[in-house]
Amino acid sequence: MGLELVLTLEGKPIFSAMEVVHVSAECYPVAKAGGLGDVVGALPKYQNKAGITAKVVMPMYRTSFLYTSNWVVDYKAKAFMGAWEFEYTIIKEATGKLGFDLYLVDIHGLLDRQKIYGYPDDVERFTAFQIAVVHWMSHWNHRPSVVHCHDYHAGLIPFMMQHCYDYQNLKEVPTVLTIHNAQYQGWMGWHQSELIPRWDLSKKGLLDWGNCINPLAAAIKCASKITTVSPSYMRELMQHANGLESLFASEKNKCVGILNGIDHDVWNPATDTNIEVVYTVNTVMEGKQKNKEKICSQYGLDASLPLFVFIGRLVGEKAADVLPAAMDKAIQTYGARASYMILGSGDPAVEMALSKVAARYNHIFRVYIGYNEILSHGLYASADFLLMPSRVEPCGLNQLYAMRYGTVPMVRSTGGLQDTVVDMGDKEGYGIRFTHANEKDIVDSIGRAIDVYDNKTHLLWMRQFMMQINHSWDQTVESYTRVYKSI
Ligand code: ADP
Ligand code: GLC
Repeated sequence: MGLELVLTLEGKPIFSAMEVVHVSAECYPVAKAGGLGDVVGALPKYQNKAGITAKVVMPMYRTSFLYTSNWVVDYKAKAFMGAWEFEYTIIKEATGKLGFDLYLVDIHGLLDRQKIYGYPDDVERFTAFQIAVVHWMSHWNHRPSVVHCHDYHAGLIPFMMQHCYDYQNLKEVPTVLTIHNAQYQGWMGWHQSELIPRWDLSKKGLLDWGNCINPLAAAIKCASKITTVSPSYMRELMQHANGLESLFASEKNKCVGILNGIDHDVWNPATDTNIEVVYTVNTVMEGKQKNKEKICSQYGLDASLPLFVFIGRLVGEKAADVLPAAMDKAIQTYGARASYMILGSGDPAVEMALSKVAARYNHIFRVYIGYNEILSHGLYASADFLLMPSRVEPCGLNQLYAMRYGTVPMVRSTGGLQDTVVDMGDKEGYGIRFTHANEKDIVDSIGRAIDVYDNKTHLLWMRQFMMQINHSWDQTVESYTRVYKSI
């Protein structure tokens, strides 16, 4: 069982803080590729506010946060990955400015690169990262209460803590796996098993899924509790989980869906320094219009029309491949009755197809290929509608940010989108929901949106209603605390 930090007064315990170590590949503002970064940047902060000692450990990439922050060396040691002995250094952010203790693992030549993912040696990179984390924790002079792993990049950790001979002092520490995305599982060939430090070979079955080492599957088998980032996604995984359906079904008793929150310190139209004009529930109509005028003048669009935006990774899960034809069809159908803008990057074929459509309808449709955090804030603030036709959406943060900024979400009914958006045709509905990730459903939904845009009384009601929905982290923190206590 994990020990808790206990403060004593004259030998009697006065306060016992639960200590949770989050292990993740991303954490905003240190390094972010998507929603995983947002969640790991916010959850520990709000856990600390709730009295839990939450820390984050992640790889040290070469991101601007590294160069603009102060660091102290916390620990330095050597460990083995297969026959390779490597040195790692744990550095700690010195000021506590993020609201939690942040530790970075520096493995020279392996982790210290510009990008988070996408290298041919990612298996070695994330395996070495996990070895360093477990090695480091096994040298602490106390045990954490819980090790909380996020996605497959931290998926080998529960196995290593339980079945690697060198880390047996962590064997009894409870672990939680949060699945943000089960599409990616970190598959390794069995020839790579030697990368994992000396382990109990009789436990081979815990690593294996479909004749591969599957870090996500291993974590599902070994972690004390599994969470997904929305209740609907949990149910969907029993049916569609990229090959892991039967595993989810057999482990369902230790699985629970917990909806993400959003960080109101970062995503707040009343205080956001990344937007042209700040606004509140009472000034939403003028505020959004002014932001729209700024963005539209920058990108050559007509600010008197409803503005539709898509923000996200241009990949199949987000149904980005459908967007070029859907945009084309929408523009042919509704002509110059709306403006459209896409911010994203991903599949080069989709990037190219979108750019081609945008070139044909320059004053109606603009595409920004790339990652731009500031522009994303500007778009949430200025857009009237946010399109999310996702095929798979474990939670989705974009629709939550959109609502907070009074932007009507247009979503396919799946995963977290289904859990957070109510169609405007239903009682107290404020969004647009559709069933299929196809051209027809998208174009029809844009038609519904254009109609509601003309009804300013209804639009104002929806905007004000959405902005007041509470998606803060408080309830989510409570749900995680219940999970920790249960183990
Ligand atoms: P996912 O994690 O699957 O990509 P989420 O909806 O959970 O989806 O989170 C996406 C996050 O990444 C949001 O904060 C969104 O604003 C941001 N984002 C995605 N693409 C871009 C981009 N091209 N530029 C800026 N921010 C982006
Ligand atoms: C993943 C999912 C997304 C979720 C995010 C944060 O990237 O694709 O739906 O919101 O993680 O949990």
